[in-house]
Formats: sequence, structure tokens, C-alpha cells
Amino acid sequence: MRTAAIVPAAGRGERLGPGTPKALRTIGGAPLLVHAVRALARARAVDLIVVAAPSDDVLAVERLLADFEWGAEVRVLPGGEDRRESVARALAALPAEVDVVLVHDAARPLAPPELVDAVAAAVRERADACVPVVPLADTVKEVAGGTVVRTLDRQQLRAVQTPQGFRRFLLAKAHAWAAEAGEQELATITDDAGLVEKLGGCVVAIPGAEEAFKVTRPLDLVVAEALLAKQRADGAR
Ligand code: C5P
Repeated sequence: MRTAAIVPAAGRGERLGPGTPKALRTIGGAPLLVHAVRALARARAVDLIVVAAPSDDVLAVERLLADFEWGAEVRVLPGGEDRRESVARALAALPAEVDVVLVHDAARPLAPPELVDAVAAAVRERADACVPVVPLADTVKEVAGGTVVRTLDRQQLRAVQTPQGFRRFLLAKAHAWAAEAGEQELATITDDAGLVEKLGGCVVAIPGAEEAFKVTRPLDLVVAEALLAKQRADGAR
């Protein structure tokens, strides 16, 4: 067992509207979490999947995931107050022999298994960490108090997806740093790679996949549902 995938799935998903935690919202008859775990389990690189579930729903999530044959070991533990804490808890629970760790949002249910393998391979072969990136469709402007301050150079910018991959010791070191850091230092760090960058780690960027988009708002659920239906019709799932 050398490569483990952590799935932070403990968010309430408030931007999706009230109700069931986001990871348990369904598309194509199954929760987002089930699709995300399937993407990881289908990747050749992944030996173990650790899910950080909403603390009230750990048993329910365990039962849900026990209904499937995954082809990789799947464990469930309670997540934390925020995404970072959920990842840190799962990281602390990994067996000693794991040396590469992927972190993949439950909210990205349709990431291709090939992308998962490409991220893991990049870490094994040439990097401290790896993130999948996609170009931005929109122009990006800095806005303050309702007024545009400046327009950023879109050519230089990328949107970052998950799975993100890491050498385990470095991700653990980054999370240990974050646990001691002040709120201000952490304010602009919104992903795991951001923590590793802060420690000066080399983070390589590889091409991401459109299908790995994050389900955040109600429209994203509609898009995910449609994409899944198309993949099923094409025989890809
Ligand atoms: O809210 P957002 O879409 O940024 O959440 C990204 C991922 O982090 C989701 O998969 C969510 O379930 C997870 N998360 C978590 N623990 C929290 C908050 C969010 O695992 N306390």
C-alpha cells in the first residue's frame, strides 16, 4: 500500500442550498461521494481511500460505501470544522507505508481515473506535489468596493482542480505548519498545494480535465447530471 487518496467530504455545501450535505447529494441515482470514490478506485495508482465524512453522518457514509465492490480499501472517519482540518485528520490516520497522498474533493464526482493516475505519476516521477489545471474561460478582474482596480493577465492564470498529489511527508509538514499558523497567514490559502507552496515545495502543474469541475452551485448539479447521462449513453460508465 503506497498511494492513498483522501476525500474531504465533510462540507455542508451551503452554496448548493439548504439540505443534505453536499457529498451526499445525488446525480444519476448515486451520491457525489460515491462517484468521486469510484473515480479514485478505478485509478490504477490508488491502494487506499480515506473519506472524511460529516461528523453526524460517519455511520451512514460507512454503510453507503460498504454497498459497493471498490477494488481498493475504503475507510471512513469524521471530518473537521473546515476542509483543511478534514484533510489533516485523514492524513494523520494513514498507514506508515503510504508515501504518496492524493487529495480529491467529493464535490468533483466526474474526475477521470486517468487524471488521478497522471497526478500520482507526476509526484512519483518528478515533483513534491502536482496539481491539475485548466485555462480560465472568463476575464478576471480585481474589484474593491464595487470598482474595478485592475484586470489580471488571463494568459498567466489557471484554475486548479483536484485530485492534487503530494509526497506524504511534505503534505504532513505543510499541515503541521498550518495547524500553528495564524488566521491571517492562512486567509488566502484555499487548497493543499497552497500550503506546500508556502513551505517552498515544487508544485508541478499538469493539464486538468473539464469533467473534473467542482459541484458548487445548483447549476453545477444540472451539468454533472447531464454529463453523467451522456457518459452512460456513450458506454463510458
Ligand atoms: O465548500 P467547498 O466546495 O470548497 O468544499 C470542498 C470540499 O471540501 C468538499 O468536498 C467538502 O465536502 C470538503 N469539506 C470538508 N470538511 C469541511 C468543509 C468542506 O471535508 N469542514
